[in-house]
Amino acid sequence: MSTDLLLAELRDAARAELGDAVALRRRLHENPELGLVLPETQRAVLDWLADVDCEVATGGQTSAVVATLRGGRPGPTLLLRADMDALPLREETDLPFASRHEGRMHACGHDAHVAMLAGAARVLARRRAELPGTVKLVFQPGEEGFGGARVLIDEGLLDAEPRVDAAFAIHVDSSLPLGRVALRPGPILASGDLLSIDLQGRGGHASMPHLAADPIPVACEIVMALQSFVTRRVDAFDPVVVSVTRIQAGTTANVIPPTAHLLGTIRSVSERAREAARDGVRRVAEGIAAAHGVDAKVHLVPGYPVTVNDAGFAEFARGVAAELVGEEAVVDMRAPIMGAEDFSYILQRVPGAIVFLGARPPGEAGEPLHSSRMRIDEDAMATGIALHAAVALRWLHGAAKPA
Ligand code: NI
Repeated sequence: MSTDLLLAELRDAARAELGDAVALRRRLHENPELGLVLPETQRAVLDWLADVDCEVATGGQTSAVVATLRGGRPGPTLLLRADMDALPLREETDLPFASRHEGRMHACGHDAHVAMLAGAARVLARRRAELPGTVKLVFQPGEEGFGGARVLIDEGLLDAEPRVDAAFAIHVDSSLPLGRVALRPGPILASGDLLSIDLQGRGGHASMPHLAADPIPVACEIVMALQSFVTRRVDAFDPVVVSVTRIQAGTTANVIPPTAHLLGTIRSVSERAREAARDGVRRVAEGIAAAHGVDAKVHLVPGYPVTVNDAGFAEFARGVAAELVGEEAVVDMRAPIMGAEDFSYILQRVPGAIVFLGARPPGEAGEPLHSSRMRIDEDAMATGIALHAAVALRWLHGAAKPA
């Protein structure tokens, strides 16, 4: 079959799934769940897959669902991934299907990711006999800081037979115009490490600071010095962001407190810069504290690694997207985004790519992801379903070419 015909068929098939996919997305949107254990979300996915011709497995420690579509012919295995979890914030949209749970919201579009992958499962299952290889559709909990992908990998996600050869994911973007697909080869999202500094000084009377060891000016100096460190010691073309986002110290006006605590985040888009930033932050904080007779304990908690799109896979995915949505709707991202994503763990192990799908409602400015007013145009989901299916079919056929 010509690729034009295939893509036209997939576009129609995806469009036909849109109504059900929107209903599923709204069901999830009303009932957002947090973390690694998402029983309602898992139930919704299992309900959907009950009618789909595939093998279904569920996670061990998590509510993950893996649907395996074995093709009629042998070939490689592609993993398609949708994250499932919501965020701990109060929804402030007036949508009729707004969150029914105070303090929880699908503000990162993972509800749409689940529904798009569910739609793609149906589209691909109908073509199962013609698939030269296997598609594993992975519904993954705990993306928002819980490292769900890491847990699934530890449980054998990539090693279970048939072993995964490549991986693909889509993330909706509520501020990118509807229907656009944005991506880049190489780093596309940052690493995100947690920074915490405990300063131990000596408390005393605010009128006699020379008898104390005041941690507050030390904390302030560290914050400023970290910014100087970033601009003076980090290559401008291999960027690092250090943000101190919380400072805690003291109780009242006339007491010098004995301790101060700083909390923040370190972002980078290469493992080399990440290492250099972690070393530098430690050196700067400890050195400044020591200069003032205060003790600094620097804790660096490793978060998600840099998300790196494989150059070859990204080029392939770009080509499929261009055929599907038109060359003019493909956005070649100039730079990575400093957010972090646990799909990075999967891309450390197998080649693949994550792309952004524009879902900004036409005529609106577009609230960013993680905003309490974030909304998407659900029409984008038809493109997402078709893109998942097209990438899977084209990749299996391409990768399965006889030598
Ligand atoms: Ni997200």
